[in-house]
Amino acid sequence: MNKSKLLSLFLIGLASIIVLHAQKQKSFYPGKLWFDTDGKIINAHGGGILYHKGTYYWFGEHKGEHSNDALVGVTCYSSTNLYDWTFEQIALPVSDDKNSSITKGCIIERPKVIFNEKTGKFVMYFHLELKGQGYNAAHVGVAISDNAAGPYVLVKNGRVNAGIWPINIPDSQKKLNKKESDFKSWTPEWLRAMENGMFLRRDFKGGQMSRDMTLFVDDDSKAYHIYSSEDNATLQIAELTDDYLGYTGKYIRIFPAKYNEAPAIFKKDGVYWMITSGCTGWKPNEARMFSASSIFGTWSQHPNPCRGEDSELTFHSQSTYILHVQGKENLFVYMGDRWIPSNPIDGRYVWLPILFEDNKPVLKWMDRWSLNDFD
Ligand code: GAL
Repeated sequence: MNKSKLLSLFLIGLASIIVLHAQKQKSFYPGKLWFDTDGKIINAHGGGILYHKGTYYWFGEHKGEHSNDALVGVTCYSSTNLYDWTFEQIALPVSDDKNSSITKGCIIERPKVIFNEKTGKFVMYFHLELKGQGYNAAHVGVAISDNAAGPYVLVKNGRVNAGIWPINIPDSQKKLNKKESDFKSWTPEWLRAMENGMFLRRDFKGGQMSRDMTLFVDDDSKAYHIYSSEDNATLQIAELTDDYLGYTGKYIRIFPAKYNEAPAIFKKDGVYWMITSGCTGWKPNEARMFSASSIFGTWSQHPNPCRGEDSELTFHSQSTYILHVQGKENLFVYMGDRWIPSNPIDGRYVWLPILFEDNKPVLKWMDRWSLNDFD
């Protein structure tokens, strides 16, 4: 073999080592800036992920520099490896029509998308606050598309399950007539009244409030909307109709008056695990964890899943979604947000692998980690 042949073989070898190394080196860097494939900062806060036909789609809130209001809409990025994300488009744009429920300047939070096998439609649910009304509307918005990346079209928005009682409320509580004005806020009596359905009854006619939320599709294709209701005091889990566009009317309240937000859920070995936060607005607090062997309960609480430094602040993040990595039966990824209300676009993403100790989910801080660590 002559010298130049040897040299080119050497160079090819070197190039493949560099490529292999680069591929191996791909990692997640929780809390660090994360750029899309165009070199722009990923803008998909309070997000969720849909896996469809070999591609992951990340939907999230587009945030600007000065306000949390929806001035653009819901963004969509796609990826086949979970590290490199390509901006697809604004999947659900806000509207220029002042009469639209999603008019520019409304609040759109925590969008989640699921695919309906029967109708072939992609269905997005999100927390919607009507423009100029602060957080009072507490609506859920529903939008659909024929394509995963959108564009999505708003189908409806409103409260949840108007005129319907949850299946786990005792008859005696349906008849109570205590009202907010009967109590001083935050007294034990007030909390007890809330636990006993004071706000559930208040909103019975007009429908239950829906703020922080997620969606979950079970193994039998039944889907559920899980949301902070009753002034954020109580979580509700509502079953969706077969086309995922409405409610069957079957729903439960869980942990009444315990103030859970930011629900994120996954199922492993027949057990449903839910991670939530407490209610401290944009400021992080201690994560909570719950499990059940049926989606409609009974749900029970476990200690904070986070371990180590800053575990009492969920590593300065708030849950938004739990992602099941395709092809890795036991790999679930906690997705959280580090909110920066003074400059919302600068909010960071905290993705951490869910570890299991004694068959229970555990989160530990990692400066850097890779999917390969879980082969
Ligand atoms: C957080 C909630 C966010 C957003 C914020 C508004 O508690 O998780 O999604 O609604 O409050 O203050």
